[in-house]
Amino acid sequence: MRHKHSDYMHWAKTQSRARFNLATSGVGSFPLRELPSLPALEINGDNSYGYPPLKQAIAARHGVDPDSVVTSAGTSMANYLAFATLLDPGDEVVLEHPAYSLLTDALEYVGAVVRRFPRREENAYAIDVDEVRRALTPKTRLIVVTNLHNPSSVLTTEPTLRELGALGPRVLVDEVYLDAVYDNTPPTAFHLGPRFVVTSSLTKVYGVSGLRCGWILAEPKLAWEMRRLNDIYAATPAHPVELLSVAAFQNLDLLRDKARRVVDRDRAALADFLSGTPGISAVRTSWGTTAFLGLPGAESFLSKLREQHETSAVPGRFFGVPDYFRVGMGVNSEMFAEGLRRVGELVRG
Ligand SMILES: Cc1ncc(COP(=O)(O)O)c(C=O)c1O
Repeated sequence: MRHKHSDYMHWAKTQSRARFNLATSGVGSFPLRELPSLPALEINGDNSYGYPPLKQAIAARHGVDPDSVVTSAGTSMANYLAFATLLDPGDEVVLEHPAYSLLTDALEYVGAVVRRFPRREENAYAIDVDEVRRALTPKTRLIVVTNLHNPSSVLTTEPTLRELGALGPRVLVDEVYLDAVYDNTPPTAFHLGPRFVVTSSLTKVYGVSGLRCGWILAEPKLAWEMRRLNDIYAATPAHPVELLSVAAFQNLDLLRDKARRVVDRDRAALADFLSGTPGISAVRTSWGTTAFLGLPGAESFLSKLREQHETSAVPGRFFGVPDYFRVGMGVNSEMFAEGLRRVGELVRG
C-alpha cells in the first residue's frame, strides 16, 4: 500500500490549536484591508500555464527568467510537483533529519526510497556535507534540504549549498522560511546552478497563507515538465488569488516589516525564556519563525501542557525526534510570552 496521508497535517488541522498556541510556523495574518490598494478582481483570466504578471513578479523578486517560474498552490504543492516530476518509484532521495514531515510524506507517496542524513543539535543543526555524501548511492536522484531549516530555523550559507550542488544529484532547497532572514537576506539557491530546484511561497513570512501563492524555480526545460505534469493535477490556478498575489508582491516589504516587529519581540522573549529555563536545550538562531526545543519526556509534557495550561506546541515526533518540541514566533507577542511562561512553569514543576 502506498503512503497516502500526513499524520502531521491532520494533527495540525485538528489538534494544534490552544488558547496559547505555540504550534504555529508562519507569522500572523496580514489583513486584506491593510493592503494599500486592492486590485480590480476578476473571476477568469489568461492563466493557462500561470498568470504572466504573477510569474513576472516572482521572477523579478528573485532575479530569474519567468520561464524558470512554475506557480503552485503553496510550497506544499510546489514540493509535491517537483518530487513527482523528478522522481520515479524506487528512486532514492537523501533528506535531512530532522525534517518537516510533509517532505517525507510526499516523497513516500511518490514511491521514493528516502535515505536520511543527520543534522545534529550538538553541531547546531549545520549540514555536514560528508554525512550527505555518505548517504548517497548510485540510485540517488535528489537531495532535499530546507533553508531555513524546519524545525530549528538554522540558516545554511552559500558555500555549503554549493558543496551540496557539487555532489552530483539535483538539490531541492525548500526556501519557504528564507525571507525571515530580515537583514542581508540571502539570494535564492537557484542562482547556484542548474542542478538547483527551489520551492517557496508567501505563506510563512508574509502573513498571506490564504492566497496559497507558491512557486518552483527550475531550469526552463524542467520547469516546463512540471507545468505539464500540473495539467494532470490542477488544470489552471484560481484567478482571483493570482490577482491578489500580484498585489501582495507589490507590497512585500510592508507585509514583511509588519511581521518582523512581532517576530523580533518574540525572539527576545524566547532568548530570555531559554536563559531562565535550564531544563530545556535549544540552538539559538538570529532568524526564523520557529525554534526546536529539547526536553526529555516532551511527549507527555506536551499533553500536560495542553490539558492543564491551555498551551500547545508541535511534538517532536512529527520530525522524528520525540524528546523535542517546536514553538512558533510571529503571531501575537502577548500570547507567545504567556505560552512560554506556562511552559516554564510546568518544566519547573
Ligand atoms: C519546510 C516547509 N515547507 C513547506 C511548507 C508548506 O508551506 P505552504 O503553506 O506554502 O504550502 C511548510 C509549512 O509548514 C514548511 O515548514
